[in-house]
Amino acid sequence: MIEKIKSQIVAVEAFSSTNVEEIENFRIKYLGKKGLLNDFFAAFKEVPNEQKKEFGQAVNTLKNAATEKVNALKEALASQEESKGVYGDLSRPGEPIALGSRHPISLVKNKITDIFARIGFNVSEGPEIEDDWHNFTALNLPEYHPARDMQDTFFVEKDPDVLLRTHTSSVQVRYMENNQPPIRTISPGRVFRNEAISARSHCFFHQVEGLYVDKGVSFADLKQTLQYFTTEMFGKSKIRLRPSYFPFTEPSAEVDVYWGLETETDYKMTKGTGWLEIMGCGMVDPNVLKNCGIDPTEYSGFAFGMGIDRIALLLHQIPDIRMLSENDLRFLEQFKASI
Ligand code: PHE
Repeated sequence: MIEKIKSQIVAVEAFSSTNVEEIENFRIKYLGKKGLLNDFFAAFKEVPNEQKKEFGQAVNTLKNAATEKVNALKEALASQEESKGVYGDLSRPGEPIALGSRHPISLVKNKITDIFARIGFNVSEGPEIEDDWHNFTALNLPEYHPARDMQDTFFVEKDPDVLLRTHTSSVQVRYMENNQPPIRTISPGRVFRNEAISARSHCFFHQVEGLYVDKGVSFADLKQTLQYFTTEMFGKSKIRLRPSYFPFTEPSAEVDVYWGLETETDYKMTKGTGWLEIMGCGMVDPNVLKNCGIDPTEYSGFAFGMGIDRIALLLHQIPDIRMLSENDLRFLEQFKASI
């Protein structure tokens, strides 16, 4: 009898399986109600007294070996289950992928650059920290020119002046210095002005400026281009040009687009006039062309500039310009539907 138990201990120790059913059968065979161990315990009565001790120890060893084996195999099986390949359970429900959204400034900027790309304008960029030449002097704003006060400038350093650009006209200067006509380029970017922050104005905002220089460019070309733009951008083709002043253009004008007075919002947006001012423009001053190495007797050009933030506020009915730079996800996530 004891020999039989010992051979079972050897068998138990040798057993191995990764199959749930096999392990369960093994457990039942040894540890189940009608299992071998219970048989041995039942046989204990018949064992002669002098063998009882040895017999008891052997049965206990078998019981421990079987219990440990079952536990060890089940544990191994469970940990194997956990690391089941990279995909895990392929039948589980999918996890939604969180979609981002574009910032309203980017949406408007992309739309504007797209519209001008269709008529041959490329995109040029330049530094936000500028020198005096590119932001002012080359643009026909020599030192002590009163129009410098129009743009409250943030200075980084004095003598020589280093400043945060107040408009992206500086990029156009750089572009003309490095390229000969024909030039068709638009310059989007962030600009800075030392203005009090309120719902309607900020100390930094974004612009898109455009420049076209070639032989025989006229004011009529400018007007056509602007009309094409407002039609594509807003679906409105009625514009008017009001005489204005910029040091770098002559003549200069403000562009108003006729928005209409159909809804209450139209009334609010246009202060009851139906007209909305959207940009400044003009024929590039011959001095500016000369400063940038382009012969004004051979070439002429037009330029225009508009604020992206203000257009974003208009198009999306955003009540406060500060919302554009607060990075509040509740606000930004509302632009998911736009591309
Ligand atoms: N640079 C001007 C501004 O910042 C805009 C402008 C650009 C006006 C080009 C005329 C021509 O206000």
